[in-house]
Amino acid sequence: MMMMMFLHFSLQFLLHPLLHFLFITLITCLALKILKSLTTTTTTTTTTIHRSRVISNYPPGSDGFPLIGETLAFIAAHNSSKGFYDFVRTRHLRYGNCFKTNLFGGTHVFVSSVEVAKALLGSESVDFPKRYIKTVATLLGEESLLCSSHEHHKFLRRQIASLFTLDHLSSSVRMFDELTVETMRVWKEKRCVIVLDYALKITFNAICKMLLSLEDDNEMEALRNDVSEVTEALLAFPLRFPGTRFNRGLKARERIMDTLREKMAMRRNGVECKNDFLEHLLAKDNPDSAESLTDQQISDNILTLIIAGQVTTASAITWMVKYLDENKEVQDKLREMQLEIALKNSDTPLRLETLNDMHYASKIVKESLRMATVVSWFPRVALKDCQLGGFQIRKDWIVNVNARSAHYDSTIYDEPMKFDPSRFDEDPKPYSFLAFGAGGRTCLGMNLAKEMMLVFLHHLVTTCRWEVTDADPSLEKWAMFPRLRSGCPIRVIPIN
Ligand code: HEM
Repeated sequence: MMMMMFLHFSLQFLLHPLLHFLFITLITCLALKILKSLTTTTTTTTTTIHRSRVISNYPPGSDGFPLIGETLAFIAAHNSSKGFYDFVRTRHLRYGNCFKTNLFGGTHVFVSSVEVAKALLGSESVDFPKRYIKTVATLLGEESLLCSSHEHHKFLRRQIASLFTLDHLSSSVRMFDELTVETMRVWKEKRCVIVLDYALKITFNAICKMLLSLEDDNEMEALRNDVSEVTEALLAFPLRFPGTRFNRGLKARERIMDTLREKMAMRRNGVECKNDFLEHLLAKDNPDSAESLTDQQISDNILTLIIAGQVTTASAITWMVKYLDENKEVQDKLREMQLEIALKNSDTPLRLETLNDMHYASKIVKESLRMATVVSWFPRVALKDCQLGGFQIRKDWIVNVNARSAHYDSTIYDEPMKFDPSRFDEDPKPYSFLAFGAGGRTCLGMNLAKEMMLVFLHHLVTTCRWEVTDADPSLEKWAMFPRLRSGCPIRVIPIN
């Protein structure tokens, strides 16, 4: 059996560069483990005795094979059309709301209870900082909000959160409205389109316009390619040799940083003046002020916002189109309501106030986010031994809040497999709706993402009906967020 698996993976290994990386990671893990066990032999016996006393209190789960744990099964899930979450789903079914596994030489715990989510994500959870991989900091930058330590994170988050004001959100509605209207015009003309392709394009354009007021198509295209190289490198093995995916990502990062430096210089010299995020961040530039950001902090976080916002929102929009195709009565009811709103607002671009009146559409957005759970789990690292949900957790274990399981838990959501926007007639209980995380690390772009989804939804249902032409539910392999391998192709039927 082991031999068969080995042969299977050896073959795959030749075919997929990411497997190559994971194989090397595995070998590195093994080497580290062996080294560690060689250097800590004197303490092993006592640790084992100590562990045997409390072992029954650890979360259930399998440690898998010696040293490599369940890494092969995790890799296999990543490389299958069911998607990487299948690894977690099957273990959640077997062991329940809290289980542990061993991946890449480390212990990972997955938990999905509301109480534990609160304990881990709530503002008092200083003992469970966000866990990130070193390569993320190399690619996004040491000053990225996603990689910063607790105190520094608070400072950076305050500065960046101040950009998501009502004023900025209002102007982004107008801008996203224009982009969506143009997209619908193209869809009506083409009739057969891949939703994900367009969703990726308009979310990228919208975010770059908001952050940097980019207008030039060539400039935008170049940046889009570079951002996509950085995103792909986030999952690659950190080999800095010419031709490797990681190296391409680093080179792309350098080009992005050059562009941002150039933009900052132009703003400072007065060659360019815009009302965007960059301008607001530069306005804080005062060496005497404690609230001032360095150039590095500004550029690392502009890159972070693009990467955190584009693919997530585009994937969510695509899932929403699919769910509405499968639920025609919901779609018809929504269309009726949105046409009424369109009649009242004829010829004017959508405004933030109009979005606030789209109550049914908002519930559809939430229900799509629940079912899609674009970010499946949120990793945190335990800084010390502790108890969590009745189980013993050891220092350095990675504890993942399993948002997808919470969203499909029938004790929290009645008939969780059913697409039912009316379940959001009432607000969900705290820490039970985790599409945007919760607590001190809640998604900063949450309102922007919801706004983009609403604008898109409004124009979609008031412009056309559609049919998904490829019902294959297979997921894209090695994608950072679950998304359809087909990209959701549709046939568009204009309604006016
Ligand atoms: C539907 C779209 C989106 C989803 C589902 C989503 C989901 C999430 C989740 C779950 C987290 C928290 C992860 C954790 O706790 O470990 C997060 C964090 C974050 N998101 Fe989003 N996001 C979306 C769109 C956006 C957009 C549009 C932006 C900005 C342009 C953005 C910027 C961020 C940032 C900066 C963080 C880090 C916050 C921090 O660590 O303090 N996101 N997002």
